Amino acid sequence: MSDAMDAISTKSDIYYPSPEVVAQANVPDYLTLRAEAVADPLPFWDARAKELVDWYEPYHTILDTSTAPFFKWFVGGKTNIVHNALDRHVKNAHKNKIALIWVGEDGDERVYSYFELWKEVNRFANVLKSMGVKKGDTVTIYMGRTPELPIAMLATVKIGAIHSVVYGGFSEQALADRITDAKSKIVITSDGAWLRGKTVNLKDITDEAVNRSPIVQKVIVYKRTGQAINMHAGRDFWWQDLMALPIASAACETEVMDAEDPMFILYTSGTTGKPKGLLHTCGGYQVHIATTLKYVFDIKEEDRYWCAADPGWITGHSYIVYAPLMLGATSFIYEGAPGYPLPDRWWQLIEKYSISILYTAPTAIRSYMRYGDDWTERHDLSSLRLLGSVGEPINPEAWRWYHKYIGHERCPIMDTWWQTETGGFMITPTPVVPLKPGSGTLPFAGIQADVVRENGESADPNEEGYLVVKHPWPGMARTVWGDPDRYRFTYWSEFLSHGWYFTGDSARRDQDGYFWVIGRMDDVIKVSGYRLGTAEIESALVAHPTVAEAAAIGVPDELKGNVIYAYCILNSGIEGSDQLAHDLKEHVRQEVGPIAIPAKIEFVPSLPKTRSGKIMRRLLKAQALGQPIGDTSTLEG
Ligand code: WTA
Repeated sequence: MSDAMDAISTKSDIYYPSPEVVAQANVPDYLTLRAEAVADPLPFWDARAKELVDWYEPYHTILDTSTAPFFKWFVGGKTNIVHNALDRHVKNAHKNKIALIWVGEDGDERVYSYFELWKEVNRFANVLKSMGVKKGDTVTIYMGRTPELPIAMLATVKIGAIHSVVYGGFSEQALADRITDAKSKIVITSDGAWLRGKTVNLKDITDEAVNRSPIVQKVIVYKRTGQAINMHAGRDFWWQDLMALPIASAACETEVMDAEDPMFILYTSGTTGKPKGLLHTCGGYQVHIATTLKYVFDIKEEDRYWCAADPGWITGHSYIVYAPLMLGATSFIYEGAPGYPLPDRWWQLIEKYSISILYTAPTAIRSYMRYGDDWTERHDLSSLRLLGSVGEPINPEAWRWYHKYIGHERCPIMDTWWQTETGGFMITPTPVVPLKPGSGTLPFAGIQADVVRENGESADPNEEGYLVVKHPWPGMARTVWGDPDRYRFTYWSEFLSHGWYFTGDSARRDQDGYFWVIGRMDDVIKVSGYRLGTAEIESALVAHPTVAEAAAIGVPDELKGNVIYAYCILNSGIEGSDQLAHDLKEHVRQEVGPIAIPAKIEFVPSLPKTRSGKIMRRLLKAQALGQPIGDTSTLEG
C-alpha cells in the first residue's frame, strides 16, 4: 500500500487492497502517480496519448484553452478510433483473439475475433457509403442489444460519419426529437428486440418516429426477431440483404480525422426543454477512455470483461464498445434483462464464460440482493477478479452484498462516478486504492475535482456542496450539438468567473479527501440508473388531451434509486380516475418510453409555483416524503 494513504482517518469500514491485488495491478504505484497527475494534468495525458493511441499524424498542442469553454485537445493530431479499436489489432497478435462474445436472451451465441469483427465493420461501412452516407453526416441508430449495434457504430465512425445512438427503451417522440435534432437522413434499427421472452416492436416505433421526422430518407432494418413489420418500398432495406450485395466487401479504408472532428452525439436529459445532444470528438475521447479502462479495470490479455450496461448509453459507448476494443480486450454482451428467465441468469453466464470483470449498476445489484444468496451460491464465480458500479450512488448495504456474495471478499469494487458529458471515469478508485462503501474515492489521475460553496470556496470536510471540475480533461463533451450557448450556459455559467465545469451533482468530501456523491441538484431524475429529465415526462403528459399542466419529481426508492411521481392538473370538466391514471402512464410509455412511466400519478387542482411561474418541485418532493415544507416565501401569492 502506498504511503499516500497511510494517513487515512477512519480505519473501520475501509477495504484495503490485498497484496495479491496490488502485486498484479497494471499500475501498482497509482497513488503516487495520481498525486503528480492531479497537480499537473497535461504531462499525464500527453504520455497516455502517446502510449495508448496511434496517430496518423502527431498533435502539436496538448490542450488549447483559447476558445474556452470550448476546449480543444491534441490539436493537429490525425486519428480514427476505429484504427485503434480494430485496424491495428488485425495487424498484431490480437488478430485471432476474441473481441466480442455475444449471448442472446434465447441462448444464441456469437463470437467474433478481432479479424472477424473488423471484416463485418468494413462490410457495413461499405453499405453505409453505398447508401450515400458521407464524412460529417449523422446516422441515428436505434437497435436492440445485438452485435450489429456496435458494428453499426464502428462502421459509422470508420467512414468519418457521426453516430447518434438512441437507447432502445425510448419511444416514438423521444426518438423523433433525437432524429430531428441530429438531422439524420438515415436510421438503423431492428425489427424487434427480445425482452423477458417478449418482443419489443422497434420497427413500429421507428416508423412512427420517422413519420414525425420527414428528414429521414432511408431506414436499414436488422432482422432479429422475425416478427411481422411493415417495410416501406424505397425507404426501408434489410440489413441482411444489403450485407449480401457485392458492395459489402470486406475492404474499406478508415477515414483520417482531425482530433477535434465530431465522433458521436449522445442525447441526454437536462433541466429544461428538449434533450441535449452532447458532442464527443475523435482525439481526446479515445485517450480518456482507454486510459481509464486500463487503470481502473486493470484490463489484462486474458480478461473476459462484461460491462452489463446498454451500448445505447454512454457507459456502453465508452466501456462496452470503444475502450475494450482499443485495449485489445474481450468484451462480453448479453442481450437480455437481468433476472430473466431465472434470478441466476447472470451468475450462470459468469460461470459459463469465465467472466473476470463485471461492471454494472446499483439497481441491478439491489434487485439480485432481493432474490437472495442461494441464487448466487449455485454458481462458481471464482473467475471474477474485479467488480464495478456506475450510474448512481451505491448504498453501502448493496456494496457489501456485492462484495461478499459476488466478489467473495476477494474482488475490489470500482465505484466509478462520471457522466455522459465527461466521456469517461472522473472519480474512481483503481484496484490499489483503499475503498469505502458508497464512495467513488478520489478523482482519477489528471482530474481536478472539488466540492465548493456557491461563492466558489472549497467546502469544509463533510460539508455538502457543488461538485465541480476545475481543469479540462480529454474526454469532455465539446458542445451541445447545434446549440453552443446551451453548452456554455448549462455547464459553465454557475462558476463562470472561475472557469469551472459544474456537474449538476451535489457531493461532499470527507476528511480523507474521499468524494461522496449525493445526487442531482437539477431536475434530472435517475431511475434505475437511467437519466431522465422532468421536462420530458411533463411535456409527454401535457401532450395528452386531458392534461392542462403537469409536474414530475423523483422520489427515493429502495430498488430503483428513484421513482417518478407525477402531478397533473386536468382540463376543466375532466374527472381524475384510476382509469385515466392508467391511460396517462400508457401515454408516457408511448411517447418517452417504459423507463419514464411514473410510479404514481396524482390529480391536483393546482401546483405550487414561484411568483415567476416556475413549478416548485422541491415543495412537491417534500410533501411526497412527508417532510417539512421549508421556505415558501417565493411562492405565488
Ligand atoms: C450519477 C452515467 C454516484 C450522477 C455514466 C451523474 C453517479 C449522473 C455515479 C450521470 C456514481 C453516475 N455514484 N452517482 N458512481 N455514476 N452517477 O449521464 O448524478 O447517464 O451526474 O452517465 O449519474 O448520468 P449519465
